[in-house]
Amino acid sequence: MKNEQRPIGIFDSGIGGLTVANAIRKVLPHESFIYFGDTAHLPYGDKSPESIRGYALRITRFLLERRCKAIVIACNTASAHAYKEVVRLCGSEVPVINVIDPVARHTAERFDHGQVGVIGTKGTIQSRVYVQRIERLNPRLKVISNATPLLAPMIEEGFFNNQISRTIIRNYLERPNFKKIRAIILGCTHYPLIAREIREITGVDVDIIDSARVVAGEVKTVLSARHLLNPSASAPSYRFYVSDKTAAFEKSTRIFFREQIKLEKSRIWERG
Ligand code: DGL
Repeated sequence: MKNEQRPIGIFDSGIGGLTVANAIRKVLPHESFIYFGDTAHLPYGDKSPESIRGYALRITRFLLERRCKAIVIACNTASAHAYKEVVRLCGSEVPVINVIDPVARHTAERFDHGQVGVIGTKGTIQSRVYVQRIERLNPRLKVISNATPLLAPMIEEGFFNNQISRTIIRNYLERPNFKKIRAIILGCTHYPLIAREIREITGVDVDIIDSARVVAGEVKTVLSARHLLNPSASAPSYRFYVSDKTAAFEKSTRIFFREQIKLEKSRIWERG
C-alpha cells in the first residue's frame, strides 16, 4: 500500500473519541482510519499519568503495527499526559496530533483578551495543560478551569438532553469562577454531545469551542504539509477496535459516530 493510502490511527480511552473520528471523516472523506477505544481502562480521567502513558504507548504500537501513517490522540487526558512519549515512539516519519495544542492555538488567536473557561476530566484539569499552553501563547487571556468528572460517564451512558443532565451541567457551569468567561473549551471528547445543553445554560454571549472540528482541521493541515493526504477518491475503510466489548458500548457508538458501527475486540492487554 502506498504511503498516502495508509490509514490514520485514532485512539481514545473509550468511544468518546468517535466525535473526533466523525469530524475527521467529514473534513477528509477519502481517508481510511483505524480507531482504538481502550474501554477496558475507561475512564482515563481518574488514572495516574504513569498508567495513562503505559496505555497510550501500547495502543500506539498496535496502530503502528497496522501501518498507520499518522496518530491522533483523540482524548484530552491522554493528550495531557502522554503526548511527548507517543511522539518519541512514532519518530519523525509518523506525525502525532493531540487534541489540546490545536485548540490552544485556535483560542489564543481567536480571543484577544479576557477569561476563557475549560471543562474536562480531573486528569486533564489537574495537568493544567490548557492553562499553560493558552496563557503562554496569549498572556492577555486568563484561563479558568473546572473539572467536571460526572459528565463523561453520564454521556457514555446515553444520559443527556434530560432534566438530570441539565441539573448536573448547570451545577458545574454556574460555579462563581466561570461568571466572566467569554468562551468555554469543551476539553473532553465526549462533550460535543452536550454542546446544546451547555449553550442553553451559558447563553449566546459565551462562545463554545468544539475541539473535534478544530482537531479535524489540524489533521488535514498536518497530512497536507507532509504530503500524506490520500489522493485516491476510492471509498475509505474504517475499523473500530475496543479492548473490552459490551452491547452497551456498541449501542452508544451511534450517539458518537452518528451511525451504527461494528466493534472488534482486540486482545492487546492479554498479550502484554
Ligand atoms: N475521552 C476522555 C477525554 O477526552 C474522557 C473520558 C475518560 O475519562 O476516559 O479526556
